[in-house]
Amino acid sequence: MHEDSDSKEGVAGYLECNRGLSFVARAQGRVVGAVLCGHDGWRGYLHHLAVAETHRRKGIGRALVERVIGKLELLGIRKCHIFLFGDNVAARKFWQRTGWIKQVGLTIMSKNIGPNG
Ligand SMILES: CC(C)(COP(=O)(O)OP(=O)(O)OC[C@H]1O[C@@H](n2cnc3c(N)ncnc32)[C@H](O)[C@@H]1OP(=O)(O)O)[C@@H](O)C(=O)NCCC(=O)NCCS
Repeated sequence: MHEDSDSKEGVAGYLECNRGLSFVARAQGRVVGAVLCGHDGWRGYLHHLAVAETHRRKGIGRALVERVIGKLELLGIRKCHIFLFGDNVAARKFWQRTGWIKQVGLTIMSKNIGPNG
């Protein structure tokens, strides 16, 4: 959890707004991977891809992302972005290996909305 919006209610609201674009992977009845995705009618935005440590390097992360990309394609979305912490070396290798390209010179700026804004 990175912020308040990662609360159960926050995620439920996200899923409600972006129906059919987020997935989990299950093994032996347990959730072992998950990905959230939404779009704004133009670009897709993929968040919080994670695979259980016990199930990594088996193609689950790739499969989750491919499922999301397939859904975005059906919706006519032609590009998807992810947000990656700069020090997450392992994830960067995953994204590079699966064909994602770093946007050079792009900086994300954010603003809290509400009492902390
Ligand atoms: C990043 C993560 C989702 C990858 O999931 P995964 O199921 O292990 O990945 P896959 O098995 O589908 O790997 C796909 C490819 O990436 C490569 N890869 C995956 N993790 C890698 C790593 N740490 N270092 C180098 N290559 C890696 C795999 O070897 C594979 O390549 P191949 O198909 O050519 O053999 C997983 O490591 C994870 O949950 N990390 C913690 C959460 C996180 O950082 N999420 C990303 C937030 S942006």
